[in-house]
Amino acid sequence: MQSIVVIPGDGIGPEVTDEALTTLEELGLGFGFDVLSHVNADRYLRSGTAMTDSDMERVRQAGAVLFGAVGDSRVRTADYARGVLLRLRAELDLYINSRPARLLHGRLSPLRDVSRGAIDCVIVRENTEGLYAGVGGALRQGTPHEVAVDEEISTYRGVSRVLGYAFSVARREVCMVDKSNAVPNGGRLWQRCWAEAAAGYPAVAASHLYVDAAAMKLASHPAAFDVIVTNNSYGDILSDLAAVLAGGVGAAASANINPDTGFGLYEPVHGSAPDIAGQGLANPIGAILSAALLISDRGHSAEASAIDRAVRAAVAAGRCTPDLGGSLSTKEAGAAVRAELC
Ligand code: IPM
Ligand code: MN
Repeated sequence: MQSIVVIPGDGIGPEVTDEALTTLEELGLGFGFDVLSHVNADRYLRSGTAMTDSDMERVRQAGAVLFGAVGDSRVRTADYARGVLLRLRAELDLYINSRPARLLHGRLSPLRDVSRGAIDCVIVRENTEGLYAGVGGALRQGTPHEVAVDEEISTYRGVSRVLGYAFSVARREVCMVDKSNAVPNGGRLWQRCWAEAAAGYPAVAASHLYVDAAAMKLASHPAAFDVIVTNNSYGDILSDLAAVLAGGVGAAASANINPDTGFGLYEPVHGSAPDIAGQGLANPIGAILSAALLISDRGHSAEASAIDRAVRAAVAAGRCTPDLGGSLSTKEAGAAVRAELC
């Protein structure tokens, strides 16, 4: 039996992960679940470590991770997220962060003018390097002369493999997004790797935009994009923009994957949303669609498509949480999706 580690995390993470888990259990695909409900900000505040080496070992024993969210207003430094989500991404070398954005329903896009076309793209975000690599330091901390340095790391291997992946999943075009007009060294490397990757996929159109122009075009012509590939921090930002254009961040899913090892960590894009935690207001769709990406990568693509169709049917019928225009609670919205599955 393949085992899945579940890390519900903080804020609305546990509520939405519960709905995703119930949905997977209802499909009866034979997965076993190892739930690490203790990996959260409470534990970090109590002991200084949210995820221990033995937790990490349990993750390594599993085939995949279903993740809720990290983030707590009592934790203001990067240490905590770096010790959990970013540690998992780095140590498991989950170098792709794939974030699909496909309009959930016409009434939900902030760009309701249908003549602009519906967004249906994937943001492929480099997930182990860039500003997140943890290279840097500080001088004279806490003084008026403090200096802080966070280096943006790009490696030939890291950039080449994410670009190669983007081409491998494209239907028609890959748009590479960088800031090579202002960031010289990384920019040069991304451009070189881009030319090499594009040459390897002559059947796929290759285009390029600077990140500021890409943000503008996502808002003005969202349907123009197929695959956007970019670095870690631009991918973080553009995927939130794409999520809201596709219907709302509550419905956005993501897969952190290593296509070489097959390991994956699947999480909704929305984060812990502490302001609405515990009130039954959280939208479970991002978590449910993340679970669908998980099972799709494990060979259950028919069931994953069934979840996707069920989500769309529930949303079309208005059986969803208030952020999507419905009036259901988290649990009722999860049940509404599952009712469409039968
Ligand atoms: C995401 C989140 C994380 C990130 C945070 C919680 C560190 O925003 O998964 O997009 O920036 O990668
Ligand atoms: Mn983010």
